[in-house]
Amino acid sequence: PPVTSSRKLVLLGESAVGKSSLVLQFVKGQFDDYRESTIGAAFLTQTIWDTAGQERYKSLAPMYYRSAHAAVVVYDITSAPSLQKARSWIAELQRQADPGITVMLVGNKLDLADQRQVSTEEAQKFADEEGLLFMEVSAKTAQGVKDVFDQIAEKMPID
Ligand code: GTP
Ligand code: MG
Repeated sequence: PPVTSSRKLVLLGESAVGKSSLVLQFVKGQFDDYRESTIGAAFLTQTIWDTAGQERYKSLAPMYYRSAHAAVVVYDITSAPSLQKARSWIAELQRQADPGITVMLVGNKLDLADQRQVSTEEAQKFADEEGLLFMEVSAKTAQGVKDVFDQIAEKMPID
């Protein structure tokens, strides 16, 4: 089923990994080279919440993930520290979110594979260990973006 109805999805991850860009690509089929950093959180559609990755907004995140049915935790394949941040978000979700939440790890900026710092194998292994869905995508070229939302939608329970 499509991501519609009352099911809520939240995007989490370090600032600048491309959360807003992924949603913009999915919802509007657009990409900007110069996106402004999100302030607080943005309500993208009826069901998609795009949170701000900047550290000063971190305390707001529980407000968005607590009632979410799915979380997409994004890192940037060209940034090893962004995977560390994704690991810490996943640990926080495991402690604080609804146990039934569907979580997907997404490595963005696949178009910059020549600057890769995180191997596919490392991220896949982590996802397997934690029982997460996993994909590498590019919000710029749109590669894999629709699949992220389709896979999440398939996993989400229908109320
Ligand atoms: P915050 O709102 O601060 O948490 O950041 P964000 O995760 O929403 O990142 P945003 O979508 O604003 O993207 C940050 C920068 O990365 C922008 O300059 C984007 O153009 C760029 N960017 C996002 N996705 C991609 C991608 O797939 N490939 C490339 N090359 N650049 C990307
Ligand atoms: Mg943003």
